[in-house]
This record gives sequence, structure tokens and C-alpha cells, in this order.
Amino acid sequence: MKLPINFYKPLAIGAPQPVRELPVRLERMLHFFPPHLDKMRAKLPEIARQVDVVVGNLEDAIPADAKEAARAGFIEAAGKTEFGPTGLWVRINALNSPWVLDDLLQVVGAIGHKLDVIMLPKVEGAWDIHYLDQMLAQLEARHSLTRPILIHAILETAQGVNNIDGIASASPRMHGMSLGPADLAASRGMKTTRVGGGHPFYGVIADAGPDGGERAFFQQDLWHYTIARMVDACMAAGLRAFYGPFGDFQDEAACRAQFRNAFLQGCAGAWSLHPSQITIAKQVFSPDVAEVRFAKRILDAMPDGTGAVMIDGRMQDDATWKQAKVMVDLARLVALKDPEMALQYGL
Ligand code: GLV
Ligand code: MG
Repeated sequence: MKLPINFYKPLAIGAPQPVRELPVRLERMLHFFPPHLDKMRAKLPEIARQVDVVVGNLEDAIPADAKEAARAGFIEAAGKTEFGPTGLWVRINALNSPWVLDDLLQVVGAIGHKLDVIMLPKVEGAWDIHYLDQMLAQLEARHSLTRPILIHAILETAQGVNNIDGIASASPRMHGMSLGPADLAASRGMKTTRVGGGHPFYGVIADAGPDGGERAFFQQDLWHYTIARMVDACMAAGLRAFYGPFGDFQDEAACRAQFRNAFLQGCAGAWSLHPSQITIAKQVFSPDVAEVRFAKRILDAMPDGTGAVMIDGRMQDDATWKQAKVMVDLARLVALKDPEMALQYGL
């Protein structure tokens, strides 16, 4: 076991000091772009202005014969784009793939100083994080980087779910996790053919009535357990949790419902794979105006966060004060980025 005294030490001579707390940033949507496509690269500056985080995707959905073009395209486009407050992430190929070594060597070598987070797919256990952690420290030292690159794990194998707490606490470099419902469904042997979202056959049926009439069926959320598990593992370790991809671009209502469940359960954001999903994520992961105004009333009524007060007939105490603080802190972040929302929140 690594001794606690060594946990925050750089893993290579010359590598930057690991962070003790995550940078406070708005990450409502992690917007994926396929960097092997000229058209998508040309749009990057415009997209970067619209989203909280852009993710250059080098892994699944990039054809094997376009892997090198995607890597080179990402380096070229990210190198010449001004990101301002928008986060720059990359999803590298899996650790057992033939591409990952060059992904790391070339991407960190060329644009490591601009890169905030590396998204690591198909993480199975803490050992995957340890490998990447060590290698990033070596690369940071080699390229004289002054800011550590963080790691975001995709939770998309049954073994990864089993080892989730070890993954979350594997390194001070951990930023958070995203649920990868497509790979996880395959890994678990789920009988679905979808990228996230619900399934019409997964639900509960009402008891039979005495008259033998039709019984109501209530569809359930296939991802409820995994999201809750991920949120607990992440929040306990001081990390952020995210819902991943929603593949049916036509079904905006279902995408909104899936994102909202994740938001209410504690997630900070979700992936957006299509421009329509940017708008949905922006709306869903910015807290509701009425809720924020109510939360502010709780904070104002209990300035030191202790005791109990009644507001509109509802009891508030130290615990609702903490909930209100989560909401208002998030609203303040949104307000900093969006003056229109600042007015609506009254911040
Ligand atoms: C994402 O990578 C997924 O597999 O859902
Ligand atoms: Mg996947």
C-alpha cells in the first residue's frame, strides 16, 4: 500500500505537484468532437465558445484507419484554438490498444500545456490509473509542464464497477468518472442495442386487480443503480460524476429525462454528441431558477448554517442549508458565465 505521506508527491522528478482540490469549473456538457473530420476541426473555435468542455475523441467511433488522422487532427486543431475558460480534454484509446502509447506521447508532447483532462476508457481497476498516473508524471517532467493533467475514468466494464472505490481514490490526479452505458451494457451481458437511455421492457407491472382489467406498466431507469454507485464513489473521494452518451439524437425528451435524473442524483454534467444535446445539457445542468431563489432564502434565513427555521411551511435545518449551498454555489458558477442567468437567479 502506498503510504499516505507519499500520496501527494510527484511521481517523477521534475513533474508538477499534484493538485489537492479540483479546480472549480462549470462542466455541464463534455462535448465530443471527431478530430479526423476537416469540417469538425474547422468548427472547433465556434464550438469551444458554446460549451463548457470540448473532448477530442480518439477512441470508439473513430474508424481504425482514421486513428492517426484523428490524433494528428486533434493536435493541430487544439494547438491553434483559443479555449478561454472552456476545458480541453481528450479521450485516448484503451490501454490495451495499439494506439494508446502514441496518443499519450504525441498529444502530451505537443499540447500538454493546454490539456486539462485525459479521459481513460474501459478502466477496470486502480492499476489502470496507476499506470497512466506514472506515465503522465514522466511526460510532464520531460516536457516541463507546470500544471498536472487530470484523469477522468469511463465506467464501462463490470469489473470497473466492482472496483469503483479503488479507481476513485487511486491518485490525486483523478478528476471524476463518466458512465459509459454502451460498453457497460455489453460487458454486463445486458440484452439491449442502445447507447444509454431507458428500455421499454424494463419496468414493473401493477398488481392484478379483482376485475382482471388491464394492469399498468411503469418503465424504470436501467441506469439508476450504476449512477447512484458512481455518484457515491466520486463524491466520497472529492471527484465529479457524469452521465455519458445518449445515442438517440432524435429523442430529445428522453435525453432530457436521462440527463435530469443524473443531475438530480448528483452528476455535474453529461456528454453531448450532437449540437441539440448541448442545449439540453445547458438547461438541465444549470439549476432551476425557482429552486435557486428558494435555496437563497434558506441561506439568508440561517446565516451560520445551524438551527431550524420554517419557510413557506417547510422545515429547514443544517442539512437543507447544505443542500441549498450546493445549489447556490452551482448557480453562482453558471451566473459568472451567463449574465442572463445571473439576473434570473438574482445573483
Ligand atoms: C461510452 O464510451 C460508452 O461506451 O457508453
Ligand atoms: Mg465506450
